[in-house]
Amino acid sequence: MRTTTDFLKMKVAGEKIVMVTAYDYPAAKFAEAANVDMILVGDSLGMVVLGYDSTMPVTVADMIHHAKATRRGAKDTFVVVDMPFGSYHGDVNETLKTAIYMMQETGADALKVEGAGDVIPVIRKLTAAGIPVVAHLGLLPQSAGVIGGYKVQGKTAEQATQLIEDAKQCEKAGACAVVLECIPHQLTEMVSASLVIPTIGIGAGVEADGQVLVYHDMLSYGSHHVPKFVQQFADMGKEASEGLVRYVEAVKEGAFPAQKHFFTMKEDALDQLYG
Ligand code: KIV
Ligand code: NA
Repeated sequence: MRTTTDFLKMKVAGEKIVMVTAYDYPAAKFAEAANVDMILVGDSLGMVVLGYDSTMPVTVADMIHHAKATRRGAKDTFVVVDMPFGSYHGDVNETLKTAIYMMQETGADALKVEGAGDVIPVIRKLTAAGIPVVAHLGLLPQSAGVIGGYKVQGKTAEQATQLIEDAKQCEKAGACAVVLECIPHQLTEMVSASLVIPTIGIGAGVEADGQVLVYHDMLSYGSHHVPKFVQQFADMGKEASEGLVRYVEAVKEGAFPAQKHFFTMKEDALDQLYG
């Protein structure tokens, strides 16, 4: 099992950190078998597995449900769990209780929160309590309503300066890594160079210390809108839908089940049955 110290060392050594999301037992098993360095139980599960239009309806209970299944599938991989919308913006002591509850219920290795500003004291509080925290800057899906949708962030010099300052604040507050979502690659390079902690990019260029992608997007499994920054490394959706079509046809035609799928009663039992 890797630790936050290992991730710092990987950054120094220039070894890329690979993260992927997973929301259940089989996905976690596949991710661990592929040797990813970190798994993220992202609140993106609201969209890709629960069918919501955004991450906002996702609850702490949803996150715990999926994180527990993920943990069972990847016992030896560093698992980060998102704190969902609304779960860390109230009283900071209340947030700490929620965070402790999430850690204890799921067996996660770290929690992730979006933003800086009011979230900095949250990062400080959780870290002080012994909870590793991953920060998340740039495009903040939980604030899509405020920032006006899902758009590239940090394109102006002013925004870029602010983002670098925010990243430094996150690090100072104790964050163990920072996810950078949808920002220009030059800004990723500047942020990564300004921090000791690793940056994990998504739609942020190759300059980040690591990369993260959403499982269902990168494997093309049931997600409709796949963003420009995603490469599809497999086509699970095609495999799944073709398999289902073949199943329907086989049953309708009586080709499934075949002899090899049958269970058979012995002759003497049959004789007894028919008398
Ligand atoms: O929820 C998620 O999948 C995320 C990644 C996009 C970083 O937060
Ligand atoms: Na998220």
